[in-house]
Amino acid sequence: MRILVTGATGFVGSAVTNELRQRGHDIVGLARSESSANALRERGLDVHCGDIADPESVVSALLRVDAVIHTAFDHDFSRYVENCEADSQLLDALARALEGTSKALVATSVTIVTPTGELSTEHEGAVDQIPRSASEAFLGYADTGVQTSVVRLPPTVHGAGDTAFVPALIALAREHGMSGYIGSGTNRWPAVHRDDAARLFCDAVEQPRPGARYHAVAEGGIPFRTVAEAIGQGLGVPVESVPNDRAGFHFGWLAMFAAIDNPTSSEWTRVTTGWAPREGTLIETMHNAGYFDTRSE
Ligand SMILES: NC(=O)c1ccc[n+]([C@@H]2O[C@H](COP(=O)([O-])OP(=O)(O)OC[C@H]3O[C@@H](n4cnc5c(N)ncnc54)[C@H](OP(=O)(O)O)[C@@H]3O)[C@@H](O)[C@H]2O)c1
Repeated sequence: MRILVTGATGFVGSAVTNELRQRGHDIVGLARSESSANALRERGLDVHCGDIADPESVVSALLRVDAVIHTAFDHDFSRYVENCEADSQLLDALARALEGTSKALVATSVTIVTPTGELSTEHEGAVDQIPRSASEAFLGYADTGVQTSVVRLPPTVHGAGDTAFVPALIALAREHGMSGYIGSGTNRWPAVHRDDAARLFCDAVEQPRPGARYHAVAEGGIPFRTVAEAIGQGLGVPVESVPNDRAGFHFGWLAMFAAIDNPTSSEWTRVTTGWAPREGTLIETMHNAGYFDTRSE
C-alpha cells in the first residue's frame, strides 16, 4: 500500500515508517517545513507538504494514498485543549473526505481518555471531559462505512530518542536533586516500547476494523514510585514522596500526568490482532537507551 504518515519525523511516527517499509509499503510523509521535508527525503520517503493546523492541506494528499496513519500532534501543553480540538477537526475533515472509499484512517489517541483509577479497556469510549478524547470523535464515521480506528498510547512510549514524559521527569529530578512521586506513588502508568507500538499501527492499517480502539500497552500498570526509583538510581539522587499540595511546585506542567492512575488492559487488542510486545520493559529501556546521558535531554 501507499500510506500517508503524519508525524513521520517524530518519535512514534519514525518508528511507524521504519516498520511500514520493512513490510514493503510505500510512504508519503507529511511535512510542514522545508527542514522536515528534507529529513524525510534523506530517509528516502516521498513528501506531501501540509500542516495539521490546516486540514485541507492534509486532505489534499488523500488522492495519492491508499491509507493514512496519523501520529502528528502539537505538543505545546500550554495550548493543550486547543491542540486536541485541532486534532479533532483534522480527523473529521479526513474521515469526511474518505467517505465512500475503503481507505483506512488510523489515528493516535491515549489510554488516559478513560476514567482515572479504573481499569481502562478497549471497550470503553473516551470520556468527554478529557481534552484528548477529541482525537476519538472521528470514530463515529465508522457508522457511515469509513475505516476509522485509533491506537491508544500509554503515557510512556519508551525507546532511544524519547523526549516525552520520562525525560522530563529525569530533568526535574536533576533540577530538584531528588526524584519525586506523589503521595504513596502507587498510582499506575502503563507503558510500551515505540517499536512495539509501531507494529500495532501497521497491523491496524493492514487489517482495518472500523471503529476499533487498540491499546498499544505492553505493561499494564507500573507504579509511579517504581519509575521514580529508577530515576533516583539512574541519577544517584534520593527518591521522595511529594505531598499532593506540593505536586504543582515539584512537577509543574507534569503534575496532572504524574498523578494519573491509569491501569490498562490490552487483552482485546492482543486476542483480536495477535499483537504481542517483543521489546524490553520501561525500566530496562531507561537503563539501556541513554535516558541518563545528559545528551538525551
Ligand atoms: N511519545 C510519547 O511518549 C507519547 C505518549 C502518549 C501519546 N503520544 C502521542 O503519540 C503521537 C506521536 O507522538 P511523538 O512522541 O512521536 O511526538 P513528537 O516526537 O513530538 O513528533 C510530533 C510530530 O508531529 C509533527 N507535527 C507537529 N506539529 C505539526 C504541524 N502543525 N503540522 C504537521 N506536522 C506537525 C512533527 O513534525 P515536525 O518535523 O514539523 O516537527 C513531528 O513529526 C502524538 O499523538 C502523541 O500525543 C506520545
